[in-house]
Amino acid sequence: MNEKGNGSVTLSIAGTNKSASLPLLHGTMGPPVIDIRELYSSLGVFTFDPGYAATASCESKITYIDGEAGILLYRGYPIEQLAEHSSFLEVAYLLLNGELPNKAEKAEFEGGVMRHTMLHEQIRSFFNGFRRDAHPMAVLCGVVGALSAFYHDTLDINNPEHRRINAFRLIAKMPTIAAWAYKYSIGQPFMYPRNDLGYAENLLYMMNAVPAEPYKVNPVLARAMDRILILHADHEQNASTSTVRLAGSTGANPFACIAAGIASLWGPAHGGANEAVLKMLSEIGHKDRIPEFIARVKDKNSHQRLMGFGHRVYKNYDPRAKIIQRTCYEVLEELGIKDNPLFDLAMELERIALNDDYFISKKLYPNVDFYSGIILKALGIPEHMFTAMFAVARTVGWVSQWKEMIEDPSQRIGRPRQLYTGTPQRDYVPLEQRG
Ligand code: SDX
Repeated sequence: MNEKGNGSVTLSIAGTNKSASLPLLHGTMGPPVIDIRELYSSLGVFTFDPGYAATASCESKITYIDGEAGILLYRGYPIEQLAEHSSFLEVAYLLLNGELPNKAEKAEFEGGVMRHTMLHEQIRSFFNGFRRDAHPMAVLCGVVGALSAFYHDTLDINNPEHRRINAFRLIAKMPTIAAWAYKYSIGQPFMYPRNDLGYAENLLYMMNAVPAEPYKVNPVLARAMDRILILHADHEQNASTSTVRLAGSTGANPFACIAAGIASLWGPAHGGANEAVLKMLSEIGHKDRIPEFIARVKDKNSHQRLMGFGHRVYKNYDPRAKIIQRTCYEVLEELGIKDNPLFDLAMELERIALNDDYFISKKLYPNVDFYSGIILKALGIPEHMFTAMFAVARTVGWVSQWKEMIEDPSQRIGRPRQLYTGTPQRDYVPLEQRG
């Protein structure tokens, strides 16, 4: 926090002589914050901010977003430059450690991650407990949460070495767990990870290879997958990251915290949106039916949202959506898919929405999920696996934010308050006296 020139804000309660001077804290970038930690003791009031739209829940140095300008920085580096020039594991190192690695650091980190890609053989039996048609996010929640039962020797969250090795384990094992969830859903044998492959390449290999024959991942598709993972790696204090931080603030082990993050990401308002976009595009079916769908979205009673549009922070274009749209086009080109009806439909839907006053007035633009589903489908990934892919990527962000919180000396258990509007205190009424 920048101590220089902080200043203060004075709050007073009209009709009383109560007032409080609260510090105004300035970060490196973005709006200053009013430090309200002494508010209740000074004025006897809480703040009220359901959904935390105007609340800074923590201090962080990891990711910066400017929703008006459409800016996303990982440790100060623009997402556009990282997507173009970096790799997912290099971005993982950056998010975890704060700086880009040199050659030796990069080699050691990548080696460390790739040495933890395998799962304990008994974890295989966890998959067999699920129905074949279980949603992969249910499997990820269950299996990731169960990991804590296999590492009793390294669950001391205050031990830096335990934090380091568990970060490696989580980042390394998520692709294996996600790929095995997919293989289980289609009744194919699990493919063991191959540590001679790149991170994204290994993920696509485990998803698509079979023991019966050799399988080579198309390097263009592996690069596209790696870029998608970079774009989804972290995003400030979004719902699932806030879930991980709140769970972690109680001292819960990192596997339990990441399982909580997976559960939160699953929702269609959050990470589940990429799967919902494909369902929406399939339901619309043809460009001619876009106007009728848009009309339904505008009808409040329909509760239909334009999935992949809108964002709590971005009130301009989500910079990730632009990069994914471009990558989507490159992948379709590489695959020789000249006309992809879904991509064409999405482009037309975007064109219409961006010229419609309803969406313009509400500042609704495509977000990261609008195109990601189309590119994942083009990579051969089925819709029910889309959010699992998001979870693989976001595990790096979740672990980085959890580590930052645990290492913050001012960290304490998260415990929001409320505005109580329930019944005032009253006495118990014996059963025989109730109406
Ligand atoms: C992700 O937070 C993150 O950083 C998330 C994420 C990350 O990387 O972690 O970026 C990933 O979750 C992206 C968002 C994916 N979700 C979707 O695409 C689902 C569709 N979008 C919405 O449900 C919505 O836009 C949210 C949930 C994303 C944002 O919700 P907000 O900021 O609370 O917006 P809101 O619900 O207050 O909406 C404001 C207005 C409302 O209208 P009014 O009540 O003012 O009349 O805009 C309308 C909403 O009805 N609106 C939409 C809409 N999104 C908002 N109307 C139609 N379609 C939409 N998609």
